[in-house]
Amino acid sequence: MSKAAPEPKANMGQPVPRYDAVAKVTGRAQYASDISLTNPAYAYLVTSSIAKGRIDGFDLGEAKRVAGVIDIITHENAQKLKATKLFSSGGYMSTTVQPLSSPDIAHDGQIVAVVLAESFEAAREAAHRVKVNYISAGPTASFDSAGTTAGRAKGQLAMFKEDPKVGNFNAAFDQAEVKVTATYETPTQHHNPMELFATSCVWNGDRLTIYEPSQYVHGLKNGVADQLEIEPDKVRVINAYVGGAFGSKGSVTPRTAIIASIARKLNRPVKLVATRDQGFTIATYRAETRHQIQVGASRDGKLVALRHEGAEISSRPDAYAVGGTKTTTRIYACPNVDSMVSIVRADRNTPGFMRSPPEVPYMFALESAMDELAVKLNMDPIELRRINDTVKEPIGGKSYTSRSLMACFDEGARVFGWSKRNATPKSMTDGDWLIGYGCATTCYPTQVAPAAARVQFRSDGGVRVGIAGHEIGNGAYTVIGQAAAEKLGVPFENVSVFLGDSDLPPAPVAGGSNSTASTCSTVMMVCDKIRRRLSETLNPDDRAIDKDRETVGVGHAPVTDAASGDKPFDREKAFDALGTSVIEEYGEWKPDGAPTDSFRAMYNGQMRMVGGPDLNGKIAYAFGAEFVEVRINKWTREIRAPRLLGAFAAGRIMNPRTAHSQLMGGLIWGMSSALLEATEIDERTARYVNDNLADYLLPVNADVQEVQVIMLSERDDQVNPAGVKGLGELANVGTNAAVCNAIYNATGQRIRKLPVRLENIE
Ligand code: MOS
Repeated sequence: MSKAAPEPKANMGQPVPRYDAVAKVTGRAQYASDISLTNPAYAYLVTSSIAKGRIDGFDLGEAKRVAGVIDIITHENAQKLKATKLFSSGGYMSTTVQPLSSPDIAHDGQIVAVVLAESFEAAREAAHRVKVNYISAGPTASFDSAGTTAGRAKGQLAMFKEDPKVGNFNAAFDQAEVKVTATYETPTQHHNPMELFATSCVWNGDRLTIYEPSQYVHGLKNGVADQLEIEPDKVRVINAYVGGAFGSKGSVTPRTAIIASIARKLNRPVKLVATRDQGFTIATYRAETRHQIQVGASRDGKLVALRHEGAEISSRPDAYAVGGTKTTTRIYACPNVDSMVSIVRADRNTPGFMRSPPEVPYMFALESAMDELAVKLNMDPIELRRINDTVKEPIGGKSYTSRSLMACFDEGARVFGWSKRNATPKSMTDGDWLIGYGCATTCYPTQVAPAAARVQFRSDGGVRVGIAGHEIGNGAYTVIGQAAAEKLGVPFENVSVFLGDSDLPPAPVAGGSNSTASTCSTVMMVCDKIRRRLSETLNPDDRAIDKDRETVGVGHAPVTDAASGDKPFDREKAFDALGTSVIEEYGEWKPDGAPTDSFRAMYNGQMRMVGGPDLNGKIAYAFGAEFVEVRINKWTREIRAPRLLGAFAAGRIMNPRTAHSQLMGGLIWGMSSALLEATEIDERTARYVNDNLADYLLPVNADVQEVQVIMLSERDDQVNPAGVKGLGELANVGTNAAVCNAIYNATGQRIRKLPVRLENIE
């Protein structure tokens, strides 16, 4: 165990090193495109160079003459696939546009042909020689080109039947003593996971195996079966490791069924690794958003009125929105609240979820406005949050299961040195640098979903856990292994964990930060069944433990405590009494209050996450306080963020080491979102311009100096049996506002549009 691992506090597990650490650093961990296939054909995509119009024909002669080309599939010869629904409308898909089904072009970079060849190089060469004749129509790219008038776009569509509302906003806002009205904008961003969008499809008779990075193997299996109109049981998805996803690999993209159908036609395995630029258009992205916030307060800082209106970009065929007002209307006490979310359709690929999908844009708007309000009130921004802190959310009056927001602010402020801040802009300097301190609330809904697991326990103390969870870099192997080790009272090293295989019992999409809570709750429940079977065989007298021997029970660095009534007992005696050497248990767990069809939906690969504002009659969120120091060069306007600090409380922390990494990564991502990341769109052509890792700006080590992560102890027995709130998406929520609030403190300039680059500083 390295010295760098954080010490666990109350209600935290041990900071054991990652289960998969050695496999990953030695290259033994096999990612989807690492799997070697027998005699594969290599696929290379040809994608549209127009955003709207139709294909008038192809000239494939030159491409077909490239040595090694096997076939070229276009809409003229592709197998027709069944049209299926968007994942958020009860289907599986990231988009309802089915490429290669017609000559129509719905967005830039749509798949228009697939070249198959004996080598990757030949396929690529031929793909570059495919000539597509387009009849182009004028596309609309985004808000402004979609015809925005007076802040409202043409064709703007209200998204939700019930936008959160309470009291009488208009009357209260009219009479408020202090008011802020401001608009905020966030850009298109792309997930850009390191691992590209790969797919290998192998048929064995009528059985299909898919090697593909996925956040949801049961969704992918069922979605592809649906598109191909075959039995889901004939499809198996395997991915023991996923090289980053952040939402981009959660729904089913159209590439998979296309490659599967080609593999069936060719009667040989087909391997596709889409390029970095293709990844910008064949999967999803974070849509650009616009917000208007109106917030009114009394002189003492109490909120009296809040209105949040958000607009998001979506595609022509699909009405998709993330809609973060469910969070922003509930996070502070306020008696009069109004909200609305709408979408504007453009000729774009369909957006989707990207790390902390609703909270990143919507909390940027709210937490910037809170800082603006603090300035108007001449009040410390932390005190403003304290005055409006609440144990009940204002919309439905539900109680938070636990809420440590102010404890996070107090501890974060102490360690950051917030008391040294001078609230007057431009007052803190160091030579040529203006210094600013900013802070913001961060939060993320606690979500859970049904899951199933199979656990095998041997009399020699060995454990095997099988659950179709996903190692997306989050530490899933590690925390699931810890959950089993703790419940069965064996060392962590005794546990083998099997994930990322749709032949295993289903786990939910590794999204919405629900993985640890859902999978650990399930695995703990199944281990409890094993414990009960073993302990029931023993006479009370035989339960006594021989201290020198391995025992079953709470013993090895437990996260659980004795409150559950668990008592250790002698493992070997128990197995002997039962007359077996191995016990295997299967179990299914669903959150309290989850619909009765939850287990069926789980096997059907449909998403059934619950939580946040509505977790079994309560409201459940993880919270944190984030602090940023910026330095801005007086002459060049260069922006630096030398210090990022977050103090977080997220229920039980299964492993402080992996949690620390998640939170640190989130803080860095959040800084990157504020200062660097944006996908640029050419308004004339509705095409992405910077679709590569050179021009899509990401932070390097030189951009990240000091990152401090503080984890507060918090215990919450209401959220789920594991007591875990989930924190994968907690840390990158508050940073956008914290950075802009720090820039205001440094310069006196309020920036309401992300990202902030040096040319935006006056
Ligand atoms: Mo994450 S955007 O919920 O996959």
